[in-house]
Amino acid sequence: MTIHEIQAEILRLKKEKNICILAHSYQGHEILEIADYTGDSYGLSVEATSADQDTVLMCGVRFMAETCKVLSPEKKVILASPDAGCPMADQMDRAMIEKVKIDYPNHAVVCYINTTSELKTVCDVCVTSSSAVQICNQLPQKDILFIPDQNLAQYVAEMLPEKNIKFLDGCCPYHALMTIEDVNHARKLYPNAQLLVHPECPPAVAKAADYVGSTTGIMQYAANSEHNEFIIGTETSIVEHMQFSYPDKHFYPLSGSLMCPEMKKTTLMDVYHCLKHNAGEEIVLSADVMEGAKRCIDEMIRLGG
Ligand code: 13P
Ligand code: SF4
Repeated sequence: MTIHEIQAEILRLKKEKNICILAHSYQGHEILEIADYTGDSYGLSVEATSADQDTVLMCGVRFMAETCKVLSPEKKVILASPDAGCPMADQMDRAMIEKVKIDYPNHAVVCYINTTSELKTVCDVCVTSSSAVQICNQLPQKDILFIPDQNLAQYVAEMLPEKNIKFLDGCCPYHALMTIEDVNHARKLYPNAQLLVHPECPPAVAKAADYVGSTTGIMQYAANSEHNEFIIGTETSIVEHMQFSYPDKHFYPLSGSLMCPEMKKTTLMDVYHCLKHNAGEEIVLSADVMEGAKRCIDEMIRLGG
């Protein structure tokens, strides 16, 4: 079968079985084309709550499917590729943070959404790349322990100098590879382009950018901008999606190495097998984890709007 025929069969099956397909923007274009909703981590989990269907298929990584399950406990949530995980989300666990918290007694513990649901149970509030600054700004505490991403933490600290933000040494192993040399090289190659980066990039790269934001933020900025050329400092699939969406604008990757292999684990055929043969993994969380993680995520929604 051709890609187009597989996509047509997926569209038929999802209608017949009443399944909602969510795809993070880092998925391949052939997957975004058959999804009901696409977007960043925050947008996807919120969209899932309002979907009419009682089954949701997540094309992304495990923490995204878990967030979906926590916010929609009555829905069956399936992770299309069971071994797709976010390495940053696995860098810190509940036992480790329970110990670390002893050294930061008066700090609000803020976790990035890229964490396990179990870890969220011992944090005060979670944030996404699009809401981190706004939420930290609203916390009554001046002292904040921000986990796991040190680069996002430093970006928030730069934006909110009145807060005292402590961080540990977690990071996205791919965004963290970006350097100021990559920026200088790309700026030399494309002198008229604007540089748009994700806050998971190191501080020197974020400081050199024209815009810093979530995957959706980057896409919206480029879509609405009067500029014609953009260097994209996030996962390379964003370059591809934007080229298709805006064929008369030009998009260049900040570096060829900004590719997340975990996000690439889900294939169009995985989606097909999930729909046709009940493949994938249903997300099951204990009552304790559901309750604790929900408190942390609900606080994000309350403060983030
Ligand atoms: P977003 O919240 O921007 O979707 O980012 C998720 C992610 O994993 C970025 O690497
Ligand atoms: Fe995790 Fe980085 Fe991949 Fe995002 S790009 S899912 S933070 S490893």
